[in-house]
Amino acid sequence: MLCAKTSSTSEEVIRKVMLQWERPPSLVVFFLSNPVYKMWAKRKVSRLDIKPGSIVLDFGCGTGIFSYYLAKKVGPHGRVFAIDISESLIQLAKKQLKRCLNVEIKLGEIWQLDFDPESIDEIFIHYVLHEMPQKKRYKAVLEFLRILKKAGKIRIFEPRPPHGIPVKGVEAIFKRAGLKQNQLNLSWRSFSAVYLKK
Ligand SMILES: C[S@@+](CC[C@H](N)C(=O)[O-])C[C@H]1O[C@@H](n2cnc3c(N)ncnc32)[C@H](O)[C@@H]1O
Repeated sequence: MLCAKTSSTSEEVIRKVMLQWERPPSLVVFFLSNPVYKMWAKRKVSRLDIKPGSIVLDFGCGTGIFSYYLAKKVGPHGRVFAIDISESLIQLAKKQLKRCLNVEIKLGEIWQLDFDPESIDEIFIHYVLHEMPQKKRYKAVLEFLRILKKAGKIRIFEPRPPHGIPVKGVEAIFKRAGLKQNQLNLSWRSFSAVYLKK
């Protein structure tokens, strides 16, 4: 969860701690809000070809750091939906994003949030799928498909095993749901992929 240069061990520790405590301890909050993490998020988002005016869903927004930069990227005519299932992280995201007028924050499972069909241009997923049980992943992907506009995109960033999720597993879920892989970038510790709604 820290910046790319720090060890995946810290990433794993944070993930375990988050799963154990409903209210994340201050250490986790520190990692998810510290300036290095913010710089990492800013750089990652700056490299994405997201158009101003886009409607983007930040799935599993955590403390909202990525939503903040996504909101800047889409600009005043765009919109970001920041969603998460953790009430305490959503509270932190609300603080983080209080000045972002183009962000809407929602708590709950994606399929409970009643997004309109074909209403979202892009879904951004950063280090979330590996924390979800297999069944929930597929259910979420089917909901992504429903709410994405035609030719809409899903951008995924996930850690690889032993602490993350196998690329093949992700590919299988998205293929089963009928989404087309458009990009795949692998590094030894993580991967990113883009899927398109046909
Ligand atoms: C490792 S954190 C990443 C947070 C954020 N995306 C980031 O990179 O800073 C994983 C997040 O996924 C969220 N999450 C896990 N399962 C989820 C689900 N079914 N729906 C939405 N969010 C979920 C967790 O609550 C947590 O905020």
